[in-house]
Amino acid sequence: MSSNIAGKIVVITGASSGLGEATARLLSAEGATVVLGARRADRLQALASDLTGKGGKALALTTDVADRSQVGKLVEAAVQEYERIDVMINNAGLMPQAPLERLRVDEWDRMIDVNIKGVLYGIAAALPYMKRQKSGHFINVSSVAGHKVGPGFAVYAAIKHAVRALSEGLRQEVKPYNIRTTVISPGAVATELPNSVTEPDVAERLKKFYGEIAIPADSFARAVAFAVSQPEDVDVNEILFRPTRQEL
Ligand SMILES: NC(=O)c1ccc[n+]([C@@H]2O[C@H](COP(=O)([O-])OP(=O)(O)OC[C@H]3O[C@@H](n4cnc5c(N)ncnc54)[C@H](OP(=O)(O)O)[C@@H]3O)[C@@H](O)[C@H]2O)c1
Repeated sequence: MSSNIAGKIVVITGASSGLGEATARLLSAEGATVVLGARRADRLQALASDLTGKGGKALALTTDVADRSQVGKLVEAAVQEYERIDVMINNAGLMPQAPLERLRVDEWDRMIDVNIKGVLYGIAAALPYMKRQKSGHFINVSSVAGHKVGPGFAVYAAIKHAVRALSEGLRQEVKPYNIRTTVISPGAVATELPNSVTEPDVAERLKKFYGEIAIPADSFARAVAFAVSQPEDVDVNEILFRPTRQEL
């Protein structure tokens, strides 16, 4: 597996915890160079130091994906330092679930800014370089909620459906440039994600659900590694996985 991961320049948003961090660790162990973006500079720096201490190559850049110029700078930093970008993982996100009638409109706005505009900004930043290289790989993070809608997570589900629609459109458009696109839709994975819920009753229910069934973040990292490690003429477009115990 490692032959097609080693040496690749991989930019990861939301790399300071959870799925992004686990992916940085696995890909770095497989020989990729990782360029890490998120807002918590201390967490990013600690991760980069840990990876370089283990012999890997890592660069950390404080990035708010809701700000297009910051996402641009993250990708530019990767290209300036390592001369290209092979994989762009648009992973940063939050999940402040709540029923629509509670009108957490500020949280709807935040999810739109981070979970979908952040992905669009990642595409805008990396696509020109990948077109020029005539190679590249986008990995966008959706969710089981990108396939299923249920009460209490309508906005999150709408945005994760949008990530899948966007990824399919991107897939079709980038054919001439030899660019691959993968959308990964995880079920419940043990990360800090439930911490973004602000409604106490929802938070309690969700933490109980995650506590009972969530699987380790490495499950996601292995799905990324599977997609990235394929031969260049194989484009893995969709991966949907859940904990074996997860019903919905
Ligand atoms: N865990 C699950 O069960 C699950 C299931 C399906 C999909 N997902 C998706 O997986 C992705 C990663 O979430 P996670 O589970 O790993 O949760 P997490 O541990 O909370 O990680 C979220 C990451 O996103 C970053 N982030 C949040 N807002 C950001 C912003 N404005 N700019 C840049 N980075 C930002 C956070 O870093 P900072 O706070 O340092 O900025 C953190 O690194 C999300 O898109 C989520 O929707 C997760």
